[in-house]
Amino acid sequence: MDSESTPVHADITLVVNGREHRLSVDTRASLLDVLRENLGLTGSKKGCDHGQCGACTILIGGRRANGCLALAVAHDGADIVTVEGLAQDGRLSPVQEAFIEQDAFQCGYCTPGQLCSATGMLDEAGQGWPSAVTSDLGSEPVLDDDEIRERMSGNLCRCGAYVGIVAALRDVARRKEAAEA
Ligand code: FES
Ligand code: FES
Repeated sequence: MDSESTPVHADITLVVNGREHRLSVDTRASLLDVLRENLGLTGSKKGCDHGQCGACTILIGGRRANGCLALAVAHDGADIVTVEGLAQDGRLSPVQEAFIEQDAFQCGYCTPGQLCSATGMLDEAGQGWPSAVTSDLGSEPVLDDDEIRERMSGNLCRCGAYVGIVAALRDVARRKEAAEA
């Protein structure tokens, strides 16, 4: 192997689901590959590896991102949450519970990405971030079905479980609204 093709490694630290990891990573490695192959966190899935399906969605610093498009070396010190970190103290998150109640999956391959994306999406809407279909930019977006579909459009489901996914997120949004009223 000549020097041009010799892998270059870098030392980084990642905080994943509240636990700190010191790692030596190939500078070409994606966060998705590091999570799955170095840390054994295989909940995040590789669907396309090209930023097109959302199966790899994780939360980086609280914001959703495609793990397959994120270079691990560029996220030294990042605080990351994967699907394995959504449940707290043995209790499923509200989004996870709603997915079960509404039968929002079939094979489950897209589900970890859907769950992480939905968790980030609810936070974004709660902070007043508009989407492409938000008509009134002056007030907090209301998560109706159109808003949910638009905001979750980066997460594909080859089983077509979209009806259940939208129903689950509608339920979570309504419960959140009721709790804040
Ligand atoms: S595997 Fe990352 S978007 Fe498809
Ligand atoms: S549940 Fe099978 S891909 Fe979404």
